[in-house]
Amino acid sequence: MAIRKVAILTSGGDAPGLNGVIRAFVKSAVIEHGWEVVGIEDGFEGLVGKPRLRPLGLKEVRGLLGRGGTILGSTNKGNFGWRKNAQGELVRNDAAYQEFVANAKAEGIDAVVVLGGEGSQSIAHDLGNFGLPVVGVPKTIDNDLVGTDQTFGFDTAIGVATDALDRLHTTAESHDRVMVLEVMGRHAGWIALHAGLAGGVDAILIPEIPFDLRALAHKINERDSVGSSFSIIIVAEGAMPAGGEAIYQREGLLGGIGYYVANQLAALTDKDTRAVVLGHIQRGGSPTPIDRILASRYGVGAVWAISQGRFGQLVAIQNDQLITVPLLECANKIKPVPVDGQMVRTARSLGVVFGDEEQRINK
Ligand code: F6P
Repeated sequence: MAIRKVAILTSGGDAPGLNGVIRAFVKSAVIEHGWEVVGIEDGFEGLVGKPRLRPLGLKEVRGLLGRGGTILGSTNKGNFGWRKNAQGELVRNDAAYQEFVANAKAEGIDAVVVLGGEGSQSIAHDLGNFGLPVVGVPKTIDNDLVGTDQTFGFDTAIGVATDALDRLHTTAESHDRVMVLEVMGRHAGWIALHAGLAGGVDAILIPEIPFDLRALAHKINERDSVGSSFSIIIVAEGAMPAGGEAIYQREGLLGGIGYYVANQLAALTDKDTRAVVLGHIQRGGSPTPIDRILASRYGVGAVWAISQGRFGQLVAIQNDQLITVPLLECANKIKPVPVDGQMVRTARSLGVVFGDEEQRINK
């Protein structure tokens, strides 16, 4: 199939490096193949109704490598592809898919690249079933995508969280306090685990390992008894106490576990405790060098995948090799932290607690 015109869109929550992927994709498409490139604005919604497209050439992507966010706009609350049936259940809205594909064809677009997480890649896969050649690129600060070793945006997020932990250390030490830092990550603990190791914390709480507050209180008291009168805890927003549930600020929006942990520990120990929620600071600002490099590799990889006719596939990096994997392998799935993996074991060897110590010992 001869390719002349390709399109790119960004879907879901933004991640540092999105603009870097757009830049690399446009540069490689133009320089290597002479393809015309357009950006679809505001995710999938940009090709529903009146198409919102913008031409992307070398001039338009100048200066994008170090810029956070996405110049194309994105949404993670869009309703593309879903509608409620008569029973009020969410079902696939085939009409939206048909409209998207018809608009793409009318605009002369030969292939679309979707930068998104597992939900967006599921839509990308379905678009393929409606006859549109699609290639996916894995994006999320959460690093929870199946099929690729590391998503872009993750390294920047752990950098921000590590910086926050360094800052919390000095104030915690000055006041003999327990500081609890809540980080993002949805239902996976990658950000908390990696930033926790980099920030030298005393406890890491992740969704994959339900915690017992008594194990944390024990750790805090133990530190106190040897003269370390402050403690630092990092908690993933999706973490939960054993037998309990994740905490939501409102429907679909995780948040609040940091305050819960801090308040419970204040009652269980005689320490002064504070919670800090890092929030969207983890997603904003310039990507790190690692994320810029990953973004460049993924952008160039998307052009390569199209040129090879690898449609219905996700551009992935495994063992440092650029490959593609079927979109279906990563659609609507998440990659949890391996609870007995090397990272968790390294942390445990350093005396970091995960809050499951008593269950493990009594097993
Ligand atoms: O998936 C990225 C992410 O930042 C999650 O870590 C977090 O739970 C969610 O998005 C927040 O979404 P929103 O931008 O809607 O607040």
